[in-house]
Amino acid sequence: MRKWLVGLAVLVFVLPVLAQAGKEYIVLQTTSLKAVALEVFADEAYVPAIMRATNSKHVLDKTFFFVPAIDAVIPVGAKLWIPDEIWAKAFLLVYDPTKPEYLFGGGQLVVGSWWTAGGEAEGLEALFAIYRELYPDVVIVNATIAGGAGYAFKAMVKPRLIAGVPPDTFQLHAGLEVEGYMPEVYLTPLDELYQIAGWTAVFPKDLLDLLLYKGHVWGVPVNIHRSNVLWYNKEIFARFGLKVPANWDEFFAVCDTLRAQGIVPFTLGNAGGWEAPHLFETILASTLGPEKYRGLWTGATPWTDPGVTEALKILGRIMDYVNADYAAHTWDTVLEYIAAGRGAMNIMGDWAMGWFMAKGVDAGWAPVPGTAGTFVALSDSFSFPKRAANPVNVLGWLLVCGSKEGQIAFNMRKGSIPARTDITPKEKALFNPYLQSAMDDWARDAIVPSVIHGAAAIESWVVDFIQAVNFFLVTRDVARAQAALVTAAETALQAMGVK
Ligand code: GAL
Repeated sequence: MRKWLVGLAVLVFVLPVLAQAGKEYIVLQTTSLKAVALEVFADEAYVPAIMRATNSKHVLDKTFFFVPAIDAVIPVGAKLWIPDEIWAKAFLLVYDPTKPEYLFGGGQLVVGSWWTAGGEAEGLEALFAIYRELYPDVVIVNATIAGGAGYAFKAMVKPRLIAGVPPDTFQLHAGLEVEGYMPEVYLTPLDELYQIAGWTAVFPKDLLDLLLYKGHVWGVPVNIHRSNVLWYNKEIFARFGLKVPANWDEFFAVCDTLRAQGIVPFTLGNAGGWEAPHLFETILASTLGPEKYRGLWTGATPWTDPGVTEALKILGRIMDYVNADYAAHTWDTVLEYIAAGRGAMNIMGDWAMGWFMAKGVDAGWAPVPGTAGTFVALSDSFSFPKRAANPVNVLGWLLVCGSKEGQIAFNMRKGSIPARTDITPKEKALFNPYLQSAMDDWARDAIVPSVIHGAAAIESWVVDFIQAVNFFLVTRDVARAQAALVTAAETALQAMGVK
């Protein structure tokens, strides 16, 4: 029933927008593309865009005219396709007269990401469905590499970028993560595309600032994710009359009660090595509060702060309540504990909501203890490598990623919320209650950047942070871990020219 309703909603809200993607044009007397461009766009510069758009249609539908050359005579009765103006302008950005192959349709779109888990795969597929609708001549190659937070994917994509054989587009977090890709060498700046698509007016100012690196924008954001969410099994909490913990004292009291009942109080999967550090970033947000947490990444808050000591102690205590097989589980497989009623709580970003939705699990949610009013944020974007083999196909992809219909279809499955600010109340109602509450929180909470998901720090710092936390899981030596975090910060801030 729910699926049916969602399907109907997509038909009502999404398809009418897509239908405006371009229009047919039947030639009534012998003409040229130049004359058509002048008539339709009042500008002959659009000739290549009309040629490409028509040839793209021709690939699958031979009733469309095949335009063999830019100055070809277009006979009476020929059916052309006039692209919408945004796409046409974007096309002209990449069009290169020395590459006539851009004027013909078809080809591939190789999309690199790490979205293979429940919710992730569904969200990505929803974007693909819209893309296929608009560009049916293009074969999408879903070039995923599994591994949450992209720990495996990122390691693969770098050598490919350097070798000049990157995917056509790939997943990239908004924020300092982009530094690791040397964007000025390997990526196409997207500032002009932002102007053409009108994105500077529809993405929030803070996000636009986050996307800016070395004076340019390098990715198109598809969403906003929240990292500091406590997920819990509602049935277990109801059975034992438990209150969802709002602070760490309450949290550990709940843990004790559950352990006495033979239920794993807190579930963790740290097989990727980033999940426990993810948990730790959310604890830092709670012990330091938004202002001081933010300062950790700018040099304003010293890592010697007692709030960091406190956070390490809390993490150490949590480890006394986790499933013994935590090193063997990933962020998603460990959620099976919650689904099966064998584990009670988990802390993970709201892609976990995507997973719960995909599996039909009705999980409870709350902010991580001590973080109500703080939204630890991150955003997934898609990049445009300079050496993309199919640049024209990438443009269409980026336009879908940034579009309202793309963001709605993607996010209601992914467990994230649209990055766009122009979502109407009717459109908001398409999202589940958690996502609607995340939209409210995003609008009113203090927003702070996630470190594990690329927003807060350069990658070398993220790696040092991850190592310090994982080492701590083994040693449980608070002073040593804090010293490692202090050194990591000093090294990174120096590299960033802050200290
Ligand atoms: C994050 C990413 C999310 C989600 C998660 C788990 O880094 O931003 O979209 O996929 O990893 O894989």
